[in-house]
Amino acid sequence: TMQRKKMVIGNWKMFKSASQASSEFSDFAKLIATKKLNIDVGIAAPSVFLADLARRTQNSVTLFAQNAHWANEGAFTGEISTGMLQSILVNGSLVAHSERRQMFGETDESAGKRVGALVRSGMKAVLCIGETLAERESGMLKQVLTRQIEKAIEASGIRSANEFIGSNPSSPLLSLAYEPVWAIGTGKAASPVEAQDAHAFIREVLSASFNKETSSLLQILYGGSVKLNNVKDYMACPDVDGALVGGASLIAKDFSDLCEKCD
Ligand code: G3P
Repeated sequence: TMQRKKMVIGNWKMFKSASQASSEFSDFAKLIATKKLNIDVGIAAPSVFLADLARRTQNSVTLFAQNAHWANEGAFTGEISTGMLQSILVNGSLVAHSERRQMFGETDESAGKRVGALVRSGMKAVLCIGETLAERESGMLKQVLTRQIEKAIEASGIRSANEFIGSNPSSPLLSLAYEPVWAIGTGKAASPVEAQDAHAFIREVLSASFNKETSSLLQILYGGSVKLNNVKDYMACPDVDGALVGGASLIAKDFSDLCEKCD
């Protein structure tokens, strides 16, 4: 079987001014281009900066939005379509980050529709899933992950597993990010064992939803307080295929060092 390529994505959330974004992104792209890593590296930036950043990728950084709508166009004030993103050379988008689920009414169904639109446009979709502390403590981890994955796949409207892979099996269109809500921005990271257990379970669910071959190709990223000093422990886990990094992705030099540790 094929070796999954590792992927590390920085999620800038709602940080930076235009000039900070341009200079930090340019520095980062340059550093990554020089390192010639054998991993996929991406940044998910605020949408207002994307058009500018697309001119600064040096072909070394994959550019992600933080959200994308499922309709081609229409009366959806405040939303951005996959076609709009594609027209400014954005490669993909995060979907249903826990902050969107918690504060902006994102559901498994709307998440699935967003995934469907991205994949049908040939763009990358990083579907974020993960349990709250209360869910984990009440023994609902597996139930929550299963629901989040199955409902999203169903709502995507895509029925062929191959469509989720796309034309390049070493960089499939669909990826998942496991981000336990209690580990996000808290400094309280999941242990590598907790991450590996959840990832192995996620791969089982994917394998039941698609098939074994497809599930073995999909990249599952861990997110939640990933830092320079713990990232290697996650990368050593067989089912952890990369990281989705918040706070530790904001400074170019630091984040490029973190990416290097994943190679
Ligand atoms: O999407 C990444 C994120 O939610 C994790 O944030 O700051 O804990 O790395 P952080």
